[in-house]
Amino acid sequence: MKVLLVNGSPREKGCTYTALTEVAGALEKQAIETEIFHVGKKPISGCHGCYACQQTGICFMKDTVNEFLEKAIEADGFIFGSPVHFASASGTLTAFMDRVFFVGLRRGIFHYKPAAAVVSARRGGTTATFDQINKYFTISNMPVVSSQYWNMVHGNTPDEVRQDLEGIQTMRTLGNNMAWLLKSIEAGKAAGITLPEKESRAITNFIR
Ligand SMILES: Cc1cc2nc3c(=O)[nH]c(=O)nc-3n(C[C@H](O)[C@H](O)[C@H](O)COP(=O)(O)O)c2cc1C
Repeated sequence: MKVLLVNGSPREKGCTYTALTEVAGALEKQAIETEIFHVGKKPISGCHGCYACQQTGICFMKDTVNEFLEKAIEADGFIFGSPVHFASASGTLTAFMDRVFFVGLRRGIFHYKPAAAVVSARRGGTTATFDQINKYFTISNMPVVSSQYWNMVHGNTPDEVRQDLEGIQTMRTLGNNMAWLLKSIEAGKAAGITLPEKESRAITNFIR
């Protein structure tokens, strides 16, 4: 089993990364494979709303979004991490997740795979950012994994984050909880529990 952890900060080895490595360490201890995927520093465009992906199943823009989607097909669980930028997720992660989940919804890449958000801030805007990221999961039939506190760490440097003992413990608990849920899902499958039956989707736009 494998969990993909997305570092949505332009800082490759910064605070978000530090939090994610703690989650990954707990998962690895439980024999779950992990990979940290960095969204990078290059500009990532937001969704153009062209709907081409609804026909082709991939985004027409050739960048890390399609690269990530290929990996996501194979993954069993996800952690999306972001620094707090003006009380929101980073612009890069927001653009990335808009496009990833627009394709993912169409193809069912994420459905029934557990996910969690992780945020890092100096001081404020954590819960708003946490809520923002969780909304991608709860529109995609994904079980959301929780921890002993909302998944946040505080600091401006990796060293400050490591001093946030409660935040770091929250990350380890999150990793353990994710491992437990993944193993429970696997055990359920082995016991013959199938995915829920899906109705054909009703889409109404409030004008009819
Ligand atoms: C553009 C920008 C906006 C930020 N906005 C906030 C904010 O609203 N609240 C906050 O507490 N910290 C804010 N910060 C600080 C970062 O959230 C904090 O240093 C974070 O831990 C950095 O994580 P990283 O090293 O993974 O990028 C901001 C930093 C930047 C660069």
